[in-house]
Amino acid sequence: MLFRAAWNAGCFPGTTLMPVNTQLQTHAAIPSTSQTPRGIGFSLRGVHKGFDGREVLKGLNLTVLPGEAVAVVGKSGCGKSTLLRLIAGIDKPDSGEIGLFGTAGGVRVMFQDARLLPWKTVRDNVAIGLPAGEKRRADAALAKVGLLERAADWPAVLSGGQKQRVALARALVSSPGLLLLDEPLGALDALTRYEMRALIGEIRAEQGFSMLLVTHDVEEAAILADRAICLAEGAVALDCRIETEHPGSRTIEEIARAERTILNAVVGTTFTTEPYDDKHL
Ligand SMILES: Nc1ncnc2c1ncn2[C@@H]1O[C@H](COP(=O)(O)OP(=O)(O)OP(=O)(O)O)[C@@H](O)[C@H]1O
Ligand SMILES: [Mg+2]
Repeated sequence: MLFRAAWNAGCFPGTTLMPVNTQLQTHAAIPSTSQTPRGIGFSLRGVHKGFDGREVLKGLNLTVLPGEAVAVVGKSGCGKSTLLRLIAGIDKPDSGEIGLFGTAGGVRVMFQDARLLPWKTVRDNVAIGLPAGEKRRADAALAKVGLLERAADWPAVLSGGQKQRVALARALVSSPGLLLLDEPLGALDALTRYEMRALIGEIRAEQGFSMLLVTHDVEEAAILADRAICLAEGAVALDCRIETEHPGSRTIEEIARAERTILNAVVGTTFTTEPYDDKHL
């Protein structure tokens, strides 16, 4: 029952925080936030996970530092959600080690569907897990996502995009150290997706939490992440830093370059890195 409530709320207070030597990892953190990196990092060492005798993750190694924003891409069924559930502590690995490390803050998860409790108001959905007496923080989180005036409404009367904004407010209300996002914008129309993408980017730049974003949208990965990993054959097939000279407001050229790098890794086709010109028409 407790687990079900936690699953619904995207909140996993039981996730363990373990000391790990952050010097072990090989990627220098270049967080795109204006603040000193804060939040929670994690490390997976030799992680195996399978279902019904079929191995999905095959000795996966990955370290993400506090403050990093990492996009996870890969073909459908390659194990992206499985990886996210292991990091959240929802599932356990068959073997290998998973450790969380860093400063304060919990682990929160946001899924493609908002998972709001229909018998609670918008405000009470956001306040799930907050100590009694701190409900005013729910209003602050709702204001952040532009939905304060809907605080007293029932979830059923909100649009899909508004429900996802409530889910984002609920994930942010307790100042997470690590936000795990499993295709959070996948079910939204294009315009709402653009709006939400900008909102997530802004809030992260402000609060500086670490982020793991599972997405099929390569453009989304190129805009929101500092680093992209591609899963294939149960392991990390690509691990690239998304270089930018303009943290917080990437140029169109930087986004296009990052998209090409990620696409080449995901679909195994070489997309040109040359500027597009009339010869290609
Ligand atoms: N609880 C489960 N029981 C049995 N098989 C599972 C379970 N969860 C995942 N799998 C299997 O593990 C594999 C990876 O699933 P996962 O959901 O992690 O993929 P994914 O990369 O997130 O795919 P998608 O992009 O379609 O969401 C799939 O073959 C899936 O059928
Ligand atoms: Mg998935």
